[in-house]
Amino acid sequence: MLKFPDGFYWGCATSSHQVEGNNRNNQWWAWEQEGGNVRDGTTSGPACDHYNRFDDDFALAEELGHSAHRLSIEWSRIEPEEGRWDEKEVEHYRRVIESLHRHGLTPFVTLHHFTNPLWFEQQGGWTSPRAPDLIARYAGYMAKQLGEAVPFWLTINEPSVVPAACYLAGMHPPAKRDMGLAMQAARHILIAHGKMYQAVREAAPHDPQVGPVLNMIYVEPASDSEEDRQAAQLFDQYWNSYWLEGIRDGVVGPPAGGGEEAPGLKGTWDIIGLNNYSRSVIAAGPPPMGLRQVPPGPDAETSTMGWEVYPEGFYRVQARLKPYGKPVYITENGIGTDDDKQRQRYIVRHLRQVHRAISEGVDVRGYLHWSFQDNFEWAEGFRQKFGLIAMEEGTRNRLPRPSAYLFRDIARANAVSDELLGRWGE
Ligand code: NOJ
Repeated sequence: MLKFPDGFYWGCATSSHQVEGNNRNNQWWAWEQEGGNVRDGTTSGPACDHYNRFDDDFALAEELGHSAHRLSIEWSRIEPEEGRWDEKEVEHYRRVIESLHRHGLTPFVTLHHFTNPLWFEQQGGWTSPRAPDLIARYAGYMAKQLGEAVPFWLTINEPSVVPAACYLAGMHPPAKRDMGLAMQAARHILIAHGKMYQAVREAAPHDPQVGPVLNMIYVEPASDSEEDRQAAQLFDQYWNSYWLEGIRDGVVGPPAGGGEEAPGLKGTWDIIGLNNYSRSVIAAGPPPMGLRQVPPGPDAETSTMGWEVYPEGFYRVQARLKPYGKPVYITENGIGTDDDKQRQRYIVRHLRQVHRAISEGVDVRGYLHWSFQDNFEWAEGFRQKFGLIAMEEGTRNRLPRPSAYLFRDIARANAVSDELLGRWGE
């Protein structure tokens, strides 16, 4: 059996726009309304109606053995126009956090999870040089408002994804394909993280733990050729090292900078949030990046997202964090699938890798599964099912899947039993 350390956190992760419903004042909502941008033709709309049902959702999480929960605050609700704070919405999140505590769930609160207020987007969003100061002001304001109730603050979700999806791959709004803009955004996001960290630490008197949520990818070259190895190295630099070394050393390194110091950035992490789903195999490829991702082979197990299931890679990214010497929280890991048996197997096999990393000295302190319930999977829409819990069409009733009970048993035991390892382990 795989026993986890005492006090290990178990729970799920979500984000405001994907579950709350009716976040009409951000760039995602506007983009969804244009039509044709979301693959399955859905829009976030009322989503999971979590904005109204949060207390029932947290009661269910409690019943399912969870001890923590990650959610994000919707910036566009809090600051609907530049410099104007909506106290009603602050009050809403106060109630949300109170409800978490009432249900025995430790809050992990993300300040930015992909969505920008419209006014911010209209100024150029992350490409604007004002972006770091604007978001840091909001971060400080929120930390002050919620105070002691939030022990864990997460600054920006998946900083590597934002420039790549918004400005290179054209998959997220504003759906541009422009290397210059992407690098400008990457630079401002790294600097913004540091400023948000400082703002939260200044505003919150009770010494909360603050850190980024890094989506680390285990990168492998497609072959031993020099070209493929260089391409993989470049991909890894952008995806992993740029953020890790940038925060550790306080510099903006390649590819978005030349190693220049960013004042106030150095060491701006008390904890590291780690998201990981899959691995990337990289080969040399066409401009502008000179690389391409090689799709998984015919024998590989994949999810409905087309991502390869590769637990070894999950172990590797955790192991890579060891030298940084910070507590690590798995802030996302999960699978889009229509087959809940595949999800159960995924969970057990990935938890084995968390346990392995811990036994080799990586200070992993919690596992937050993505996600609690099926939700709005961005440019893929609702068709992708990442939830431990399904949502009944029409009523939006929550219907826990067998994986929700498997996860409950693991969380309650703080261990993966031999029986589960035997059934799902390999
Ligand atoms: C990462 C993102 O943070 C989250 O919003 C998304 O739904 C999951 N990965 C699955 O793609």
